[in-house]
Amino acid sequence: MFDVENIRKDFPILCRKVNGKDLVYLDSGATAQKPLQVIERVDEMLRLHNANIHRGVHYLSEQATEMYEQARERVRRFINAEHREEIIFTAGATASLNTIAYAWGEKFLSAGDNIIISEMEHHSNIVPWQLVAERKGVEIRVLRFDDDGRLRVEDLDSLLDSKSRLVAVTQASNTLGTRPDLAKIIEKAHSAGAHVVVDGCQGVVHGGVDVKALDCDFYAFSGHKLYGPTGVGVLYGRREVLEQMPPFMCGGDMVDRVSFERTTYAPLPLKFEAGTANFVGTIGLGEAIAYLEGLDLEAIELHEKELLRYAEQSLSTVAGLRIYGTTQDKCSIVSFNVDGVHHYDLGMILDKLGIAIRTGQHCAEPVMQHYGVTGMCRASFAMYNTLSEIDALVKGVERAVRMLR
Ligand code: ALA
Repeated sequence: MFDVENIRKDFPILCRKVNGKDLVYLDSGATAQKPLQVIERVDEMLRLHNANIHRGVHYLSEQATEMYEQARERVRRFINAEHREEIIFTAGATASLNTIAYAWGEKFLSAGDNIIISEMEHHSNIVPWQLVAERKGVEIRVLRFDDDGRLRVEDLDSLLDSKSRLVAVTQASNTLGTRPDLAKIIEKAHSAGAHVVVDGCQGVVHGGVDVKALDCDFYAFSGHKLYGPTGVGVLYGRREVLEQMPPFMCGGDMVDRVSFERTTYAPLPLKFEAGTANFVGTIGLGEAIAYLEGLDLEAIELHEKELLRYAEQSLSTVAGLRIYGTTQDKCSIVSFNVDGVHHYDLGMILDKLGIAIRTGQHCAEPVMQHYGVTGMCRASFAMYNTLSEIDALVKGVERAVRMLR
């Protein structure tokens, strides 16, 4: 049986007060809190094992290298990639997506091609494509969603053509919670000869991923949303695709031989890991995965579903409240607005009550444009949230609305 109170004991921050009230943390979509196991691992790394990886023959360097490579193996198993060479450590999902846009885009895109991006992407899966498109004379096409948040996958048939090179789509929208039908998208894209890049930032946390079964070409996520440290992320790419891509960032560790006449590059995965890696953060991410592996992931999913169901039901009782994104099987994210109330004001009052939600555009301005709003309130739930925290949210919203109207 899933015991949320036991889980909460693993997250020290959940005991703190904010503005004199018990913290109610409902912003895990922006960054998740860290279990003690991760905090202690990072602390231990800095106290006892700090040494640069892949560079020394001394004991500490070899030990840190081994731990770093163990983290790679943990990530590989967790997302079920076939080869360790397919797991590239980056500074975060944004760095992963930019790496694809530069390294793959520079080589494989040319004038007249097109890239299809879903309307519900957050900025990191839009802007890198716009930049490469401008440089190369590539057309951006948009795959729209319906007002309930359903991605119109059927529209791909009219968007894809022989010039389509890439489809960029999220596994789970950070604003609407929608989980698009990736299997269908990937099948359609591949039959048109296009690659697919999946933004897994929210999806990897809520239900995980099997990149082999999914058959995507690229998959990106950040460590900090998966209960790991900030400043580390993962770029998964199919080995044969990564092998064909030129390096993007250049410097130490990504080279084989360097001379002024000619430089050759290290094989995968190091070809894409220039400079001193964030090995402390990466080992912390490995520990976050180890923590998750010790839990019942199916029970967590059920718990998060229950949180979502309860939140949607309870928030719907507030007069004038609209929830954006109501598809079946969405992940545990609820974005909403209340008539006559500005999202920032609502967020500020909730903060005074110790309740942390996200307000604004959620790095997904096209979603705001879709609904004609300047921003939204967003409550995003993680394994450590409780039904009573949702009660506190709803009470807080009611109180704020009384004050603001
Ligand atoms: N993309 C992150 C969020 O959804 C920061 O809040």
